[in-house]
Amino acid sequence: MTAPTPLIAGNWKMNGLAAALAEARAIADGLGGTTARVALCPPAVLVHRMSEALAGTPVLVGGQDAHTETSGAFTGDTAAEMLADAGASLVILGHSERRATYREADDLVAAKARAAINAGLEPIICVGETLDERESGRAIEVVVSQTRGSLPRELAGKAFAVAYEPVWAIGTGKTATVADIEEVHGAIRAVLTTTFGDAGATVPILYGGSVKPANAAEILHAAEVGGALVGGASLTAKDFLGIIHAL
Ligand code: 13P
Repeated sequence: MTAPTPLIAGNWKMNGLAAALAEARAIADGLGGTTARVALCPPAVLVHRMSEALAGTPVLVGGQDAHTETSGAFTGDTAAEMLADAGASLVILGHSERRATYREADDLVAAKARAAINAGLEPIICVGETLDERESGRAIEVVVSQTRGSLPRELAGKAFAVAYEPVWAIGTGKTATVADIEEVHGAIRAVLTTTFGDAGATVPILYGGSVKPANAAEILHAAEVGGALVGGASLTAKDFLGIIHAL
């Protein structure tokens, strides 16, 4: 079975003005001979300019969300096709911040994943338990259920990734232990192979939640970890490159 090519993606969240494109260039300039696929997901309004700034480099550009429809009366929303048209090749979907703030449920995330696939984008579908869910011993049950509900059948044969981001580890400086990460990633892998057969074994499962240069090596080398989804530490070339080169 071919091991998935690691994917290290930076989620800039609602951070970054045009001046930050220089940081994106610095990331591209510092890649060296990394074996990872590297992506940056800036706010939607920067996708086009970042795609232009990174043209000719291996760094991929992604969105942070996309609507289920291709066009229409959806004020403030962005269609997957628009992201692709602006130069994106990936899109983060179902991030816990969107699940919490906009009440995005699994079936909506699955519908967005279908739209992303139809637009030719590679979805990075996020799952992860809250602190309450972990402390009550329900982490695996919650993550398995989110994974089953958020991954539509239409992903079969397409490039996509799953990101495990425990909600309590995001932006808090806390990370899950390697043992916990391996347990959850193993459970996600089982859902992937049950749903997609052999192809499910080659889907990268990223870990996200306070990944920093100092903890990246042990996380990236854990079993079933196929890369990282990085928030705060992807905003500066120094930290993001430190993570990329920990692989
Ligand atoms: P931090 O790396 O800032 O904890 O954010 C993780 C995350 O939410 C990436 O999507």
